[in-house]
Formats: sequence, structure tokens, C-alpha cells
Amino acid sequence: MNRFCILVVDDEPAQLELLSGFLTKQGFETVLAESAEKALAIFRRDAVDLVVTDQKMPDMSGLDLVKAMRAINPEASVIVITAYGTVDTAVAAIKSGAADYLTKPVNLDELLYRVEQVRERHRLLTENRELREALQTHRRIDGVIGEGGRMLEVFSLVRRVASSEATVLIRGESGTGKELIAKAIHYGSPRASGPMIRVNCAALPETLLESELFGHEKGAFTGAFAARKGRFELADGGTLFLDEIGDLPLPLQAKLLRVLQEKEFERLGSSKPVRVNVRILAATHRDLEALLKAGQFREDLYYRLNVVTITLPALRERREDLPLLMDHFLRRFAEKNKKIIRGFTQEAREMLLRYDYPGNVRELENIIERAVVLTRDDVIGRADLPLTTHNVEGEENEQASLPAVVEGVERRMIREALARSGGIQTRAAELLGISERALRYKLDKYGLYEDPNSE
Ligand SMILES: Nc1ncnc2c1ncn2[C@@H]1O[C@H](COP(=O)(O)OP(=O)(O)OP(=O)(O)O)[C@@H](O)[C@H]1O
Ligand SMILES: [Mg+2]
Repeated sequence: MNRFCILVVDDEPAQLELLSGFLTKQGFETVLAESAEKALAIFRRDAVDLVVTDQKMPDMSGLDLVKAMRAINPEASVIVITAYGTVDTAVAAIKSGAADYLTKPVNLDELLYRVEQVRERHRLLTENRELREALQTHRRIDGVIGEGGRMLEVFSLVRRVASSEATVLIRGESGTGKELIAKAIHYGSPRASGPMIRVNCAALPETLLESELFGHEKGAFTGAFAARKGRFELADGGTLFLDEIGDLPLPLQAKLLRVLQEKEFERLGSSKPVRVNVRILAATHRDLEALLKAGQFREDLYYRLNVVTITLPALRERREDLPLLMDHFLRRFAEKNKKIIRGFTQEAREMLLRYDYPGNVRELENIIERAVVLTRDDVIGRADLPLTTHNVEGEENEQASLPAVVEGVERRMIREALARSGGIQTRAAELLGISERALRYKLDKYGLYEDPNSE
């Protein structure tokens, strides 16, 4: 049996001697304190497994000592010995968090029995914890592929935050799996049986977004024909996922901050406060620090959201996971399309391994889905991929003609812009600094219409 250390606290030297002498004889390690104050000092400093304390002491009662110790370590086990064996003190002892109580004069067999019980409980708790940790270090997260160091770090962080109530900010480029991770956190949390509600803060104009978040009463604005619950209310008891939080308009940032602080808000057109119990997850691909500097994102909201940050690596920063992801998507889409596909030709595999994926996992997923649909063979070949030697990294060589290099660069930039804009051409054209017409012309010219990024 492991060492089990008992701290015995009593202001009466004779009683202290009696109890500790007995426990030592039973094979326990004991430490003595003749005042509550000394006991606290020892408790803070040493690894104590159990405290046996007298209730009536001049500097602090046994019950207050229990409370103080449990404030330091919520798992502290304390047995309180009281001279006044009334039901009240017993109840008070248990309420204050004591593991057990005994009345004076102490029956030593009884004491031993109680101590053994606490020791057994400790053993079980430790065992459980060790078991759980052992399981978790080997457990992947369902549906999230990755086995390189960067993703293992992400998994371990996800597991640690999932069990808490902490607000989590998930960052990473477009298509890196932010939403997937948000789901993993929710479904790995104690709120898993509650709702997971998503709000895309970039998708709606300000007024609509406000009623989407907080709901409205009938007649709150033109078109509000009936009262409606907002996403905050729908997420009650579960998780609210604020996606694209970097795109939340400033006035709504102020309102959101208030809800986060007070857990309370009003529906539009109502003055009745609504209280909700929601856990907040947020995600963005935007550079929040730059938005902060530009005055487009509130600093107080930033700090409120940024309790725990999980940053997802870009796919090109975790190339070690490419083979795993390629096979995963190949299997998935072959099954979905009821095709039997054995794998990739060597050439196709090499191209996929070398490409730099500005649209990250989503882009790879789309490339493979498209290839699975297109291929007439039972392997994916180079011709099934929308990649050319120009957009595959490392293949641009100095011998190539200027137009070929320009085409390669254009293709890559267009693909990247489309990935960033979620396939929305107006936004992609803006990002590229060209007109939408010019973009359409180039899409046509390069045969990018079937671009894997347009969902
Ligand atoms: N590690 C992964 N394993 C398996 N699939 C993944 C992984 N990461 C992302 N995906 C898939 O890639 C696609 C994009 O992921 P997701 O929507 O979570 O990205 P995102 O970071 O939210 O992107 P955006 O910023 O554009 O919204 C999804 O279909 C998702 O299932
Ligand atoms: Mg997303």
C-alpha cells in the first residue's frame, strides 16, 4: 500500500498523543498540529491524504478548518471529532465538506474503520483518474484526422477544455477544421446532450443578426409577425458556437459582451430580461489583433473570448497528415458514390503530397471528392486532379516560359481567393483586386469553373 499520511489536529496534547500514537501503530504516517493555524500551514506545504481534527479549538473551529482546507484543495478529506455529539454538528460537519465525523470519547476501532474507508475511497479515485488519463492519451477524437505532433497538441487541448465551461476561441485559416473542433468540444463536454447552436456572424446584416442572436417580440420591427426565440435562447443548456466572430459588427460586439458578462439579455422589442445558461465557443479565420488595431474589434470582447485559444495549423504546416487525410477522404467518397477505388497512381499521389492547399483540409476534401466522381478508372490519376504542374509546389522551374509561370501564379491566387471567400466570386474578385468580370474570364480560361472550392 502506498504511503498514506494523516494530519492530526487537536489543541489538547493528551488527545493528540492518543490519536496519533494509535494511528502510527496501525501503520499510518502521521503529522501533528496543536492548532488550526499550524494545521493549515502543514496542509499547504505537505502532501496530506487525510486530516483528523478536533471540532473545538481556540483559534478556529474544526468546521472552519474543513472549509479552509477544501478551499485550498477541494478533494481534501477531513474527519471531524466533536465533543458535542448532536445531530446539528454532525450535519454541519458533512455540509461543510467533511468526509466523516466522530464523537468523543473516540472509539479507536471506529476511528480506524472510518480512516480505512477514506483510504479506500482515495485509492479508487486515484485509480479511476489514472485509468481515464491512460485512455485519453491514446484516444483520438472521432472524425478528426491527424496524427502529427501539431494535431496531437490540438487533441490534448480539446480534451482538456471540453470538460470545462471555459470560453474557447478557435483560430486558423479557412478550411482548417474550426467547426469540426467546435463540435468535438461540445460533444466531448458535459453539455453534449444539450443543443449545439451555430451562428454565422458573417452571413447576415446587422439588424437580422441581432434578432437572430437575441430573438424578438411580435411587432418588434416591420416583418416581425410573431415572437421568435434567438439562438442564445435555443442554446440554453448547451453550447452556442459563434462562427466568424471577427465579422461581428461593432454595435453587436457591445451587446454580445454584455450577455457574456451578465448572462442576460432582452429580446428585440422587449424589456424583459432573459437568463440563459450557455457555453460559448467562437471561431474566426481573421487576424483579430489587426482588427483590434484598426478599431474594428473591441478589446474587452477580445479578452473575454480569448480565455483559451486553440489554433489549428494550416494543412501545409502539417504535411505529415496528408497521406492519412487523402486515404480517409478517398474511402469516404468512394463509399458515398458507390465506387470501388483502390487508391492513387504514384503520380497523382505525389502531386497531392506536394500541393500547398491554400484552402486547407476543405480544399483537399473537395479535390478528392471531385476526383472520385470523375474517374473512370479504379484508381485516381493525375488527370482526375484539378492540379497542374504549375500550382504544385516545387515544380515551377526557371526554364518555364513566362506565360506558363504567370498562369501558374494566377491559378494559385484565384484558387486561394476562392477558398478564402468560400467560393463567393464577388468576394474573391475583391480579394484579388480585379473585377468580377475579369475573374470570370480567368475562371473560364483556366477551366476553374469546376473549382473544388465552390461548394
Ligand atoms: N482534421 C480533419 N479531419 C477530417 N476532416 C477535416 C479535418 N479538418 C477539417 N476537415 C473537414 O474539412 C472541411 C472544412 O472544415 P471546417 O468547416 O471545420 O473548417 P473551418 O475552419 O470552419 O473553415 P472556414 O473558416 O472556412 O469556416 C469539413 O468538411 C471538415 O469535415
Ligand atoms: Mg467554419
